[in-house]
Amino acid sequence: MISLDMFEHVSLMTLDSLQKCVFSHNSNCQEKMSDYISAIIELSALVVRRQYRLHHYIDFIYYLTEDGRRFRQACDTVHHFTTEVIQERRQELCRQGAEAWLKSKQDKTLDFIDVLLLARDEDGKELTDEDIRAEADTFMFEGHDTTSSGLSWMLFNMAKYPEYQEKCREEIQEVLKGREVEELEWDDLTQLPFTTMCIKESLRQFPPVTLISRRCTEDIKLPDGRIIPKGIICLVSIYGTHYNPTVWPDSKVYNPYRFDPDTPQQRSPLAFVPFSAGPRNCIGQSFAMAEMRVVVALTLLRSRRGQGPAQRELPLPLSPEGIGYAPQSPGSDPGGPVDSVEQTVGCRRRPLRQGPASWGSDSALWGPDPDP
Ligand code: HEM
Repeated sequence: MISLDMFEHVSLMTLDSLQKCVFSHNSNCQEKMSDYISAIIELSALVVRRQYRLHHYIDFIYYLTEDGRRFRQACDTVHHFTTEVIQERRQELCRQGAEAWLKSKQDKTLDFIDVLLLARDEDGKELTDEDIRAEADTFMFEGHDTTSSGLSWMLFNMAKYPEYQEKCREEIQEVLKGREVEELEWDDLTQLPFTTMCIKESLRQFPPVTLISRRCTEDIKLPDGRIIPKGIICLVSIYGTHYNPTVWPDSKVYNPYRFDPDTPQQRSPLAFVPFSAGPRNCIGQSFAMAEMRVVVALTLLRSRRGQGPAQRELPLPLSPEGIGYAPQSPGSDPGGPVDSVEQTVGCRRRPLRQGPASWGSDSALWGPDPDP
């Protein structure tokens, strides 16, 4: 039995797969760290750390600090990589013309940059390089930390509940029965109902994004008659919603059967919102669910998870009672509040660690604060 902290490995895997899907780039970062991947990891950590220092909110002060300088440098590295890919690809597109270019890709999968280069708005206007860069960078950031948090907690639950782990393993073995290569096809993903139930229950118990905020664009009447006035910014606790005892009995218990598709559910579709809801919900949720199913299935197929001593002591990371939630009764109207809001910010959570983790050579980012 080998004991290891999964989170770093899983994060590198999600970065690896995103870089492949967004840029068609084989980063191989699970074997060897690249400047681009190190910069993304560093930026993700710096953004979180900046939130905890009031004086760092002022750009002028922030960019004078060590963190601010590192932030600028890492941004340059990320922008440089993305710009180079976009420019090369656009030159090739201009040289060949759209039709020939598309034809040359017929047997290949279009990546995210290809899709954006070909995109046109209602007036037939294309996206600028700057627009494409912003979209690609957003996907890299939104897509890696969230999925790796979701996957790490899922693997944690598999280790904690060996009976569920075994049931998932049997399910995937059944899907792959008689095949020579242990690879999943797209259609196989619908043949993993129990694994999907386990992933969903894990996302309920440990939602990677715990909190979102919305500004009300009209007065909102709550079920108890109270009104949230137009213009108010509300924090919506995804974590609290997932522990609402009215909707989720024994909410602290990991029970995948809550998501059994064969049992009719009385609860509102807004009782389970790991990917948020409404017009600004997660655009990558199908990608994330597909990736999680593939990773969980192949990981369980190739290895068995058990609990290390540290894991056995791990408490629930947040107390649902401590952060409050809006009571939501089963069947409550999902329409109004979500449509009457606009997006402000989100926040996400990583699995609890027993000590400072080391990210390659840069443990300082997770360890003691060098720039208080
Ligand atoms: C388990 C994995 C994931 C979770 C739990 C998650 C969760 C979320 C949540 C809660 C939001 C909404 C934030 C808000 O309402 O303020 C969001 C937005 C977003 N997510 Fe995800 N996400 C995941 C994976 C991904 C992936 C893989 C991608 C891209 C490949 C992605 C791209 C985005 C983008 C671009 C937005 C912003 C959408 C907008 O503002 O219109 N996410 N995500």
